[in-house]
Amino acid sequence: GSHMVSKPHGGKLVNRVATEKTKEKILEEQNEFSKVQIREGTAIDLENIAHGVYSPLTGFLRKDEFQSVLDNMRLPNELPWSIPIVLDVTEKEKNFGEGDVILLYYNDTPIAKMQVDEIYTYDKKEFAKKVFKTDEEAHPGVAKTYALGEYLVGGEIELLNEVPNPFKSHTLRPVETRALFKEKGWETIVAFQTRNVPHLGHEYLQKLALTFVDGVFVNPVIGKKKKGDYKDEVILKAYETLFEHYYPKDTDILATVRYEMRYAGPREAIHHAIMRKNFGCTHFIVGRDHAGVGDYYGPYEAQEIFQNFPDLEISPIFFREFYYCKKCNAIVHDRICPHTSEYREHFSGTKIRNMIVNGELPPEYFMRKEVYETIRSFENPFVDE
Ligand code: ADX
Repeated sequence: GSHMVSKPHGGKLVNRVATEKTKEKILEEQNEFSKVQIREGTAIDLENIAHGVYSPLTGFLRKDEFQSVLDNMRLPNELPWSIPIVLDVTEKEKNFGEGDVILLYYNDTPIAKMQVDEIYTYDKKEFAKKVFKTDEEAHPGVAKTYALGEYLVGGEIELLNEVPNPFKSHTLRPVETRALFKEKGWETIVAFQTRNVPHLGHEYLQKLALTFVDGVFVNPVIGKKKKGDYKDEVILKAYETLFEHYYPKDTDILATVRYEMRYAGPREAIHHAIMRKNFGCTHFIVGRDHAGVGDYYGPYEAQEIFQNFPDLEISPIFFREFYYCKKCNAIVHDRICPHTSEYREHFSGTKIRNMIVNGELPPEYFMRKEVYETIRSFENPFVDE
């Protein structure tokens, strides 16, 4: 065929995993380097850089890159990039200077070595307003931004050790997905990003998209979420159940990616698409209020933003909001259903959540019974804080 598996963003898949030799040498000399403790989200970003999920990034953003991402949603060389990937430190943690090599620790493990090119200050309000379109602390991404240290550190990294991963056997790297797609003979692959347990609306998006491509890559994100979201293990088990009962084996792949949701709506949709391009996907599903939270973004804003990125080299597939229409007796959207709102049952996350909490089986058109039972088999399926 004429379509080949998508080229990585920027042309080349990044690999910043240190060789055994480098690793040994650095670990021998580890007391000579300044050490910085990083939180889980930063460790996961590091791993994504090292494994090429964030290609072409080879490290944390330097000042000119950071400013360019905030202002233009592009790197200084014009390549689309919408979410700042940064390492923050506090005044107290800044016990090193530009030009130094430092070691980044997560818990007691040295995760990476970093070549410090730049240490710079930044404006958190500007960061929040540009990335999240709000500076309200009620927005979970804004709250996280305000909690960052007062300096950002830019420079290349090399991964020394893996970040402990309870979902390791389910997590695939871009080199692995690319090999898998090739093995399956898929040339067109649509990616589905999710942070949720699957309802029928999600299933319809995936299956409808699959009508036009060779395979679907369902790629739930594993990593810290906000209070009230489903726990990682619940999302994974719910999807495994759905796949077992309702998905053909030769057209669907389920694998997780470690990533902390930003809830940045439109900007995050671009970032999500870039990650999946690096996994080798050619298409990317964007539905209603993609990566949104509260009322911060318009329902189709995450679709409209793609107009600014004709050079993204992964094709978005847009869907209107799917709902169940009692008249159609089908899952439809407003471009294929003529009936009025009184017949429409929306896939409300809150409604489904309440049913799960109350042990009430959702109607057949909302959620698969097997999926519901899987979720119910957890004592507490939700993130507490
Ligand atoms: S997200 O934060 O990852 O976007 P979620 O897991 O709920 O949240 O959504 C995954 C994808 O499905 C997103 O592209 C989202 O827009 C889409 N989506 C979810 N529910 C619907 C729906 N009822 N109709 C259309 N698209 C939807």
